[in-house]
Amino acid sequence: MKLTISHLRASVEGKEILHGVDMVIKSGEVHAVMGPNGSGKSTLASVLLGHPAYTVGTKGKKIASAILLDKKNILPLATEDRATAGLFLAFQSPIAIPGVTVMNLLRASYELRHAAKHPKKTEPVQNPVLARRFQVGSMPIGDFMNMVKAHAKTLRLSEDLLNRGIHDGFSGGERKKIEMLQALVLPHEFAVFDEIDTGLDVDALRAVSKGISVLRKKGVGVLIITHYQRILRYVKPDVVHILVAGNVVDTGDYTLAKKIETKGYGAYLS
Ligand SMILES: Nc1ncnc2c1ncn2[C@@H]1O[C@H](COP(=O)(O)OP(=O)(O)OP(=O)(O)O)[C@@H](O)[C@H]1O
Ligand SMILES: [Mg+2]
Repeated sequence: MKLTISHLRASVEGKEILHGVDMVIKSGEVHAVMGPNGSGKSTLASVLLGHPAYTVGTKGKKIASAILLDKKNILPLATEDRATAGLFLAFQSPIAIPGVTVMNLLRASYELRHAAKHPKKTEPVQNPVLARRFQVGSMPIGDFMNMVKAHAKTLRLSEDLLNRGIHDGFSGGERKKIEMLQALVLPHEFAVFDEIDTGLDVDALRAVSKGISVLRKKGVGVLIITHYQRILRYVKPDVVHILVAGNVVDTGDYTLAKKIETKGYGAYLS
């Protein structure tokens, strides 16, 4: 599959932030977007996920903006429908829901995704109440929980966190890991992470990087927005894009990230 970002112009409050961004991410590729503060990186992530505060401007422009999953333009779709189409949506500023455990949230999300993917496949069951209790999508609940626990282990997330209210008193690092846990548990073709590496200690960084590698191996296309080459040491990106003032000003392999780390963005700013 292919995620194509084509001539993406986006405005917020009447001000154009992205001036025609192009990017093509294929299944199993990891792309990194780097750029100075305020260059439009988070805007790009928000627009990909369909945040309602941003308008994608094609008005009066010759080339229309598009976000394509293979040939399907997902730009007109609402956030939930983009998720169904195969884009992973991380909670950017995750809200705490004290009564809902991480495991329950994962289970509910997984079931929604599964139901959306297989709308006609709901098999008639003898006892729907029992079936609901013992099945998650098409998986027995035990298998589902084991799958979640295995991913949690990869991320070095302690199991008791899974039974706590989602983000309720979670540390910064724990929140990032939960974000990655969702990406690992819920099926999707492409995932976007905005600064998933910020504020992580060395071990957490390594664990979250491992999550990205697992996604890559599964054939998921990953877009990571980052300020640091640090995370790119553990996950070598296939492509690095430099975003400055709403334009992609350079594209290269991982060595470009190294260059930025030593030389900064000066060369692009003048
Ligand atoms: N709601 C808004 N109203 C007005 N301006 C906004 C709004 N949201 C974003 N912007 C502006 O858009 C520009 C790009 O912001 P964005 O958050 O995308 O940058 P960024 O590259 O993610 O920066 P950082 O590295 O600091 O996270 C900034 O100048 C910001 O002030
Ligand atoms: Mg940002």
